[in-house]
Amino acid sequence: MKRQMHLGLFLLGTGSHTGGWRHPGATRSFQDIDTVLEIARAAEDAKFDLIFMGDNLNADPKGHPSFTLRLEPLTLLAAVAVATKKIGLGATVSTTFSDPFTVARAFASLDHISHGRAAWNAVTTANASASVNFGIDHPDHARRYERAGEFVDVVRGLWDCWDDDAIVADAATGLYIDPQKLHPLNHEGTFFKVRGPINIGRAPQGQPVLLQAGGSEAGIALAARTADVVFSVVQDFDEACVAYAQVKDSLPRYGRRPDDVTVIPGVMPVVGRTDREAFDKLAVLQSYTAGGSGINVLSERFGIDLSAYDLDGPVPELPLSDHYHSFTRVLLSKARRENMTLRDLYHLTVAARGHWVLCGSAESVADTLQHWFENGAADGFNIMPATHPHGFDDFTQMVVPILQERGLFRRDYEGDTLRDHLGLARPPVARTATQRKAS
Ligand SMILES: Cc1cc2nc3c(=O)[nH]c(=O)nc-3n(C[C@H](O)[C@H](O)[C@H](O)COP(=O)(O)O)c2cc1C
Repeated sequence: MKRQMHLGLFLLGTGSHTGGWRHPGATRSFQDIDTVLEIARAAEDAKFDLIFMGDNLNADPKGHPSFTLRLEPLTLLAAVAVATKKIGLGATVSTTFSDPFTVARAFASLDHISHGRAAWNAVTTANASASVNFGIDHPDHARRYERAGEFVDVVRGLWDCWDDDAIVADAATGLYIDPQKLHPLNHEGTFFKVRGPINIGRAPQGQPVLLQAGGSEAGIALAARTADVVFSVVQDFDEACVAYAQVKDSLPRYGRRPDDVTVIPGVMPVVGRTDREAFDKLAVLQSYTAGGSGINVLSERFGIDLSAYDLDGPVPELPLSDHYHSFTRVLLSKARRENMTLRDLYHLTVAARGHWVLCGSAESVADTLQHWFENGAADGFNIMPATHPHGFDDFTQMVVPILQERGLFRRDYEGDTLRDHLGLARPPVARTATQRKAS
């Protein structure tokens, strides 16, 4: 069968564009369950692989509205799970500000509730502002990833504590659980001591899907070792090919094959019936942040307060901060390549919060996505609509049918679980070295 694109929806209730909520007819809340359900159903009608809910752990009233005010993702996705049937449900939970037992339970629960559609985006939480809400210091970048590696291993180990046939529930014999098929984890590491087992039977997907979005060396290494889907941050084709190859080329080191990981760059499509119409739409969106109201979004991405800089001056020398290596590197290299002023960089960053903006007629957007997909830059895309509902409708109603027509994207779901959509097998139970020694 012809290779198919994978499409995710990066869900922000007020749209990805920082000023998109100001657009006439745009949704203005990310706290309204009915808005979220409408968007989720639209994504499912368009046969997307998954909806992805990011998360952050602090409130910045000058930030992007959907980042400042949002429902807790797992609570929200449990509601979305019962209102949808097929679409995958991904949520962010931090490895810096959570504990593995709770995370393992939460995603195993979501996988049961959704009948096999849960995915966990394991993030290290780049933004240090969260630490004041947890009473702990924000560890440095390297330490965050060290902890993340152990965290993910513990979660996965907990998901495998129960054999698939451990719950017998035999009324005749009175045996409910076969104790031979239950395997404590007995993990003792640098960061965590977790005995297990988890108090929930093996998830429908065996292992819920793992998402990863870090673009630093440590982020890519973690993704190559553990992730099923990688979100990449890119601004142009050549860069996307490099990011794609970095992930795929790292896989053999961990005994994995290229098809084991789906790489989907983030993109904010702005689509019109003609190129002209699309560029006019983008110009209107950009007018909402023209006065510098999105400067905090720029500062957040670079991990440095940029409000004191002259927007019409050159882009200052900015160090790779301890925050997001990927965004800083990608945005700065584009700014240098294209000789941007700080205002140009500002406009680029606040549009899609540092992600790629693709603007044009439906045909030209489909052509570009196809080109990337067929030439080593992507296995699909993480779609970040500028606004809801219109920005997303433009994509699903104008671009998706072209992709389907060209045989590049499914017309219907062929399976029921997120693993089915991604073409990933349900993994058998794996035993850790400690468990093997104990048995
Ligand atoms: C598509 C995408 C989604 C992300 N979602 C979140 C998120 O929900 N919460 C968060 O704290 N970080 C999020 N991040 C940030 C990354 O997970 C990572 O922490 C950050 O990029 C810094 O890692 P790096 O230095 O390895 O790039 C996201 C990044 C991307 C590209």
